[in-house]
Amino acid sequence: MLRPTGVFVLGAAVLFTASLSSTLINALDNGVGKLPALGYNTWNAYGCNINEDLVLESAQLMVSLGLQAAGYEYVNIDDCYAEKNRSASGDIVADSVRFAQGMKNLTDQIHALGFKTGIYSDSGWFTCGGYPGSFQNELRDATTFQDWGFDYLKFDNCAIPFDDIIREGMIGKYTRMADALAQLSKSSGQPPFLFSLCQWGWEQVWLWGSTLGHSWRVTGDIAPDWDSLAYIINFNSFITQATSFYGHNDMDMLQLGNGGLTFDEAKSHFTAWALMKSPLLIGTNLSAITPDILQILTNTEILSINQDPVVGNSISPFRWGINPDWTSNSTFPAQYYSGPSENGTVFMLLNTLNETSDMFFNLTESPWIRAGRQYSVRDLWAHTDNGTAVRNFTAANVPPHGVVALLLEDAGDEPAGIFPPCAVWFNCAYENGTAAN
Ligand SMILES: *[C@@H]1O[C@H](CO)[C@@H](O)[C@H](O)[C@H]1NC(C)=O
Ligand SMILES: *[C@@H]1O[C@H](CO)[C@@H](O)[C@H](O)[C@H]1NC(C)=O
Ligand SMILES: *[C@@H]1O[C@H](CO)[C@@H](O)[C@H](O)[C@H]1NC(C)=O
Ligand SMILES: *[C@@H]1O[C@H](CO)[C@@H](O)[C@H](O)[C@H]1NC(C)=O
Ligand SMILES: *[C@@H]1O[C@H](CO)[C@@H](O)[C@H](O)[C@H]1NC(C)=O
Ligand SMILES: *[C@@H]1O[C@H](CO)[C@@H](O)[C@H](O)[C@H]1NC(C)=O
Ligand SMILES: *[C@@H]1O[C@H](CO)[C@@H](O)[C@H](O)[C@H]1NC(C)=O
Ligand SMILES: *[C@@H]1O[C@H](CO)[C@@H](O)[C@H](O)[C@H]1NC(C)=O
Ligand SMILES: *[C@@H]1O[C@H](CO)[C@@H](O)[C@H](O)[C@H]1NC(C)=O
Ligand SMILES: *[C@@H]1O[C@H](CO)[C@@H](O)[C@H](O)[C@H]1NC(C)=O
Repeated sequence: MLRPTGVFVLGAAVLFTASLSSTLINALDNGVGKLPALGYNTWNAYGCNINEDLVLESAQLMVSLGLQAAGYEYVNIDDCYAEKNRSASGDIVADSVRFAQGMKNLTDQIHALGFKTGIYSDSGWFTCGGYPGSFQNELRDATTFQDWGFDYLKFDNCAIPFDDIIREGMIGKYTRMADALAQLSKSSGQPPFLFSLCQWGWEQVWLWGSTLGHSWRVTGDIAPDWDSLAYIINFNSFITQATSFYGHNDMDMLQLGNGGLTFDEAKSHFTAWALMKSPLLIGTNLSAITPDILQILTNTEILSINQDPVVGNSISPFRWGINPDWTSNSTFPAQYYSGPSENGTVFMLLNTLNETSDMFFNLTESPWIRAGRQYSVRDLWAHTDNGTAVRNFTAANVPPHGVVALLLEDAGDEPAGIFPPCAVWFNCAYENGTAAN
């Protein structure tokens, strides 16, 4: 009964399905980037004002300040490293003044310090700073970056070709480079690049479970102030389930140490980014870093959760707090979060108010907590064991815009005779059918 047009339509549908599934499944299905990337990026501190000495000096400071020892693995160059024009043969050329020894010389020195290193390009005609973008030059540029010795590619979203040229959606647009990186790895036998997508917005929820790239940006650029942090945390709190091993919501680079944040706000920033399993890329002038900020960046109990090798989940809100559950509020995000880890349940309590507050929760508000059990409490900022929680926990005097991070480990059955006999009072019944209340 199929008329020729029917056959044609069916054929097109089959082709479409095949190309979509190859997009989602094959592009970068390479096992690289299971855990969020930890490292340094030049953008927030220096913008376009970069050169080889500064990059190398940052790498050296990452070592001498103990950041490498704490697990930070990448030293990444952002936009503005290139000449405005490609070479006569069409290749991206490193700025001949600011990177006078050439990129390979620089990456060799960064590698010699024990780091991997990242470079930047764009999915459109130009980068956001007006340098050459990689559209229609994906494989060529990937090859250049590999020849230069890079291991990681941040891929931005500026100067996208008009629709009649690109004829791609967000996924197709980034698949062009994902495929180029996969092809390059295959043909060169070298390890695949870590691919960090810089799409801005909520569309990354459609990437759940995909392996298009290591991470995808969830918002526009971060600013070093509480409003920006609150905006990003609120936004990300609704899409935490998009994060898992090999695919991470990227909340943008860390602004700690760039002014505009109190010490408590800086702790909240680091905690939220780490526990939501965002890549953690330090974006400050390391020559001017203070002991306070360094202490935050090297909190290994927090970093360990970010780098959990067994559990890939982000924390998620279990109660919004001052606002009704599921309220999206860019200045007052959810306050109570939890998630699983290899050692127990992680809690983040975020005091979004600008006054000191006590923060209370019942343990079983978190879906990861077992009813009828008690839990030992580890404070991941005080680095202390804070006793055993039965049924509930109160963090007293949480500072304005401050944070509490806790690890609750199962410590056996709760003591007998606790009232009420059912923590979630409306949920229990006796075996004979009588309700508990
Ligand atoms: C770069 O390319 C543009 C367009 O082809 C050309 O007008 C310009 O002179 C070139 N600039 C340099 C520095 O070569
Ligand atoms: C980088 O260039 C400098 C200056 O030309 C040279 O002394 C050094 O040996 C080079 N380093 C590497 C790792 O190639
Ligand atoms: C970085 O910090 C050093 C030391 O305080 C200072 O000399 C330098 O000017 C700073 N660089 C920038 C770009 O702020
Ligand atoms: C779990 O505990 C062990 C032992 O203290 C520690 O080495 C590891 O980093 C912890 N894992 C996480 C995800 O915190
Ligand atoms: C955000 O929440 C605060 C605290 O409840 C409230 O005062 C404010 O009106 C809310 N903002 C919006 C835009 O709903
Ligand atoms: C809290 O923030 C509001 C709005 O910015 C301001 O009016 C108020 O004075 C602040 N309160 C404190 C205790 O800082
Ligand atoms: C917290 O749990 C304890 C039992 O450990 C109970 O006595 C107390 O009433 C609970 N507090 C609140 C506010 O529910
Ligand atoms: C845990 O105990 C330490 C040491 O007494 C204290 O400084 C910290 O505030 C406590 N943490 C919480 C969340 O109560
Ligand atoms: C905590 O548990 C107590 C006792 O079951 C209950 O009365 C209270 O409403 C709960 N609070 C929250 C925030 O769930
Ligand atoms: C069901 O069992 C509970 C607990 O043993 C008891 O208190 C209650 O009276 C019983 N209800 C009936 C209808 O037997």
